[in-house]
Amino acid sequence: MTMTMPSKNDLLSFMRGLRAVREYTPEAVPQTILEEILDVGRWSATASNRQLHEIVVVRDQAVKDQFAAWGAKPAGPAAVALLIVTANDASAFDEGRVAERLALAAKACGLGSCIATLKNEGPEAAKGLLGIPPERRARTLVAIGHTDVAARRALPRAPQARKPMSEFAHWDRY
Ligand SMILES: Cc1cc2nc3c(=O)[nH]c(=O)nc-3n(C[C@H](O)[C@H](O)[C@H](O)COP(=O)(O)O)c2cc1C
Repeated sequence: MTMTMPSKNDLLSFMRGLRAVREYTPEAVPQTILEEILDVGRWSATASNRQLHEIVVVRDQAVKDQFAAWGAKPAGPAAVALLIVTANDASAFDEGRVAERLALAAKACGLGSCIATLKNEGPEAAKGLLGIPPERRARTLVAIGHTDVAARRALPRAPQARKPMSEFAHWDRY
């Protein structure tokens, strides 16, 4: 059996096409798929390879609803919320990298995802609720689920999803 590798254009289109999905069906995500997504997150590089982050995999609807009430709304309808626990605010860059990788891995598995942040009392309250040590940071989660394609199709189209390249890239000097 010959394996066809995705082309450069396929890979670029896959990366460029990562969107925030907030519309999910109620279908669960199988454990094996979650483990594959988590393994991509585990391989995310960190400064000096410190690997200070861990993930709390939340499938309990009451906890996901609580995350949504704390401002991370996409957690409510998602099948699972992957809460990123890291050392402190100085680890926010590593946290961002792992979040993006988890989202890309979910897309590779045919799932929708949305990065979301706990707001106001959320980060502290979530630590209390889930037994996370108080000195750790737990603010960002990646909501994951099966995309509700019909609900997404019904959304109004964003007129300009991103600013033009001419306002994004500066060549040789600002
Ligand atoms: C760091 C970060 C935090 C985000 N927090 C939230 C959030 O709390 N709630 C939410 O609905 N979307 C959140 N998003 C999703 C963004 O709103 C979304 O990615 C952005 O509007 C662009 O839309 P697109 O990804 O579909 O192109 C977050 C995205 C990032 C990168």
